[in-house]
Amino acid sequence: MKFFIDTANLDQIREAQALGILDGVTTNPSLMAKEGITGEENIINHYKAICDIVDGDVSAEVISTDFEGMVKEGEALAALNPQIVVKLPMIKDGVKACKYFSDKGIKTNVTLVFSPGQALLAAKAGATYVSPFIGRLDDVSTDGLNLIEEIRLIFDNYMFETQILAASVRHTMHIIDCAKLGSDVMTGPLSAIEGLLKHPLTDIGLAKFLADYKKGN
Ligand code: E4P
Repeated sequence: MKFFIDTANLDQIREAQALGILDGVTTNPSLMAKEGITGEENIINHYKAICDIVDGDVSAEVISTDFEGMVKEGEALAALNPQIVVKLPMIKDGVKACKYFSDKGIKTNVTLVFSPGQALLAAKAGATYVSPFIGRLDDVSTDGLNLIEEIRLIFDNYMFETQILAASVRHTMHIIDCAKLGSDVMTGPLSAIEGLLKHPLTDIGLAKFLADYKKGN
């Protein structure tokens, strides 16, 4: 399973990259705003900075909600760097724009997916990635992981090449469960990724190894 980090924070992206496990980055307008990145020029420069840090795919979301606007914005974003993946909302014009970009060989990530039907449409439109938001489904008492399972079944039935990018991942168990269910990618915060490192028996075991080494030296 590929690991993407879901942030626009450059320090956290550098930290995940330094760990040697990072396959890409996802951003969205809220994450950009959280880092105080506003205005077209600053946003563009920020995407370039992210691409300089990581080797893999970097999702950059369009703001337009009409086909023409999405095409114009998406083409400008894709021209920044071959790592850029044009992130499009799961609305009618987003599906049309997805088909337009996939026909042109430009990578896409269809975002805000909350049902198997939406994922199926994104795959039919040739999306590179489809982003089911599991945490936000959990927030409204609906099993987000069940959606991953359903999309996996559908994509496998028809051998769709669209990759399932489990998004809105909130904690370590989401990551483990997504891996068990065969999600192609997960995107989550650095805290969830680093949470995978932790086990008290590792700490206790290491402390004992070091203490025993000291005794013998
Ligand atoms: C996906 O690409 C989104 O950026 C993200 O995963 C949303 O997560 P949230 O529900 O924690 O805001």
